[in-house]
Amino acid sequence: MEIEVVTAKSSKKVASLTAHPTTTIRELKLQLHSNKKAPKPERICLRLEPKGRALSDSETIKNLQLKYGSKLYYKDLGPQIGWKTVFLAEYAGPLGMYLWLYQRPWLFYGDVDAKMDSVAQWAAVFWSIHYVKRLLETLFVHRFSHATMPLMNLFKNCSYYWLFAAYVSYHVNHPLYTPPSSMKFIIGSAIFILCELGNLSIHIALRNLRPPGTTVRKIPVPTGNPFTLLFNFVSCPNYTYEIGSWIGFTILTQCLPAGFFALAGAYQMTVWALGKHKSYKKEFSDYPKCRKAIIPFVL
Ligand SMILES: NC(=O)c1ccc[n+]([C@@H]2O[C@H](COP(=O)([O-])OP(=O)(O)OC[C@H]3O[C@@H](n4cnc5c(N)ncnc54)[C@H](OP(=O)(O)O)[C@@H]3O)[C@@H](O)[C@H]2O)c1
Repeated sequence: MEIEVVTAKSSKKVASLTAHPTTTIRELKLQLHSNKKAPKPERICLRLEPKGRALSDSETIKNLQLKYGSKLYYKDLGPQIGWKTVFLAEYAGPLGMYLWLYQRPWLFYGDVDAKMDSVAQWAAVFWSIHYVKRLLETLFVHRFSHATMPLMNLFKNCSYYWLFAAYVSYHVNHPLYTPPSSMKFIIGSAIFILCELGNLSIHIALRNLRPPGTTVRKIPVPTGNPFTLLFNFVSCPNYTYEIGSWIGFTILTQCLPAGFFALAGAYQMTVWALGKHKSYKKEFSDYPKCRKAIIPFVL
């Protein structure tokens, strides 16, 4: 059969492709590229609607219920960069930036001889644990379904993480920094540590859902690890735990910029969680009805 590919922007014809029921989206992308109608498959996005979701490479003509003459909408995603490269740059930056300011460079603070408070020292330890964990997860835990992402994301994501790291670190390590009470420090630290363990547990559970070398997606369910019980209540418990970590960090440092970082991350992760929750419900007819997206019983 023939499938028509048109541009997502103006519905202008790009090519007519030959397909069989078992032909995958990846194979159609390769056809477009070998016919010199489009750049490399990694740059190509194909959709069922002009503004619909990007079809995954493993989907087939049959499971998308495409027929003779069906249309696919094409978008060039622009230059690409390795997903892992972006994540590594994204996470190494805030680690380096935070620790650099932790040393109170003359450039920012002038000549300082005030002793650093032990809370600021612990904050540097917690911050480092979080980003070293993320770096190690990127290298050894996550099984991503995409190898690349648009190059622009590198600049967008790095600016967000690097600038926020500088903003938070500047205030926590400032010679005039006022630490919280011991009680607040203990409560904040406990929340931070528990949420970091929860976040790691969810990432391991997600890894184990996907066989190596595949892009399989399954309905996530709790495993033997008690931290994963949150899957009974929300679709993206890793985001719930991540927000919890930053709330903990804000309490333990009593620092307003850390609170702004927690708020910005919570907003972004809520938007993503709502989108992922919607996709789960669409993709799996047996998806648990009682689950929310990110906040149990609420959202
Ligand atoms: N502080 C902040 O502002 C902020 C913002 C965003 C993220 N983060 C942190 O970064 C972490 C990773 O973020 P993310 O957005 O990449 O998380 P994610 O979308 O939940 O994905 C984590 C990993 O699990 C895989 N996965 C997700 N659902 C799956 C399923 N149903 N079946 C099989 N595999 C599945 C993903 O593969 P795919 O490649 O297929 O998605 C990815 O490799 C978050 O958990 C959070 O800790 C922090």
